[in-house]
Amino acid sequence: MKELVTINDVGPRDGLQNQSRTLAPAERLRLIEALLAAGLPAIEVGSFVSPKAVPAMAGAAEVVAGLPVGAAVYSALIPNRKGYDLATAAGVTQVELVVAASQTMNRENINATTEAAMAGCEDIVTAAQADGVKTLACIATAWECPFEGVIDQDVVLGLARDMFAHGADEVVLADTIGAADPAGVKRLTQLAAQEFGADRLSCHFHDTRGMGVANVAAALESGIRKFDASIGGLGGCPFAPGATGNVATEDVALMLGQMGFTTGIDLVKLVAAVDVVSELVGHPQGGNSIRWLRRQIEKGTL
Ligand code: COA
Ligand code: ZN
Repeated sequence: MKELVTINDVGPRDGLQNQSRTLAPAERLRLIEALLAAGLPAIEVGSFVSPKAVPAMAGAAEVVAGLPVGAAVYSALIPNRKGYDLATAAGVTQVELVVAASQTMNRENINATTEAAMAGCEDIVTAAQADGVKTLACIATAWECPFEGVIDQDVVLGLARDMFAHGADEVVLADTIGAADPAGVKRLTQLAAQEFGADRLSCHFHDTRGMGVANVAAALESGIRKFDASIGGLGGCPFAPGATGNVATEDVALMLGQMGFTTGIDLVKLVAAVDVVSELVGHPQGGNSIRWLRRQIEKGTL
């Protein structure tokens, strides 16, 4: 039996939040349907954030209302308690809250200190436990902050410890700006896996320096079996200067399959989803492997 690795496609959130063109909820649902057709088991469908801060995510409740029932695990990003209340009122049953590892990033991203963000985390997780809502607690800029530089791994481990102590179901270690390298990823994920258990962790990488899949491979060695990725490599944080797209779902799915893992993803249909997202955003998308994948499809060998 092949070992399962779960890919959570964050394209409809991390991918679209940074696009100049704001997609209507129906267009975002079209992308989500293409991802479902490709077999994605988990999708981050949007964020319940201030529409002034991130105009592209307005209408998240409409997206949630239009989701095919039970087709995948859906989650939505929330920056604060208001986001939690809006998301759960819309029917979201899995939320991702975000606390950055640096004070400056928290101020830029959610206009809060790290302490206030962690107090918000405790409040949200407590409410979520009472409501039967699953919580993913994301530590943004877990390796490097665009404002403060390299992050001390003890800071990240301390935040993760507190998140789990508050009752978070999973901690997501996020390289928001794509500055991490496989050695640093291995160090932090090994320590985190030893302390908290690899099955309660996932990783989120950006491909800014082309090390996205190498970082996934490094985290795999620490036992991590869940990864965020974005269809076509779309993405970037509007509040983190210099960050480019997430590691592409097709690159990660291809690598995992070739390494002998199973993801449940159909690569031919995944490339069709790349075509959908390219059409929606109005310019060609695709990870490092997209040309090779297209050639195999032409040859009928995929
Ligand atoms: N959803 C929708 N509206 C929200 C909201 C939410 N989660 N949280 C606050 N607001 C509204 C308030 O109601 C208020 O509206 P008003 O001006 O009509 O009265 C306005 O936003 C300002 O509220 P305030 O609490 O003062 O927020 P802020 O200006 O300090 O901004 C955040 C804080 C968290 C709302 C904002 O920074 C944000 O949405 N950040 C999202 C960042 C993000 O998505 N980053 C990428 C992913 S990591
Ligand atoms: Zn990201």
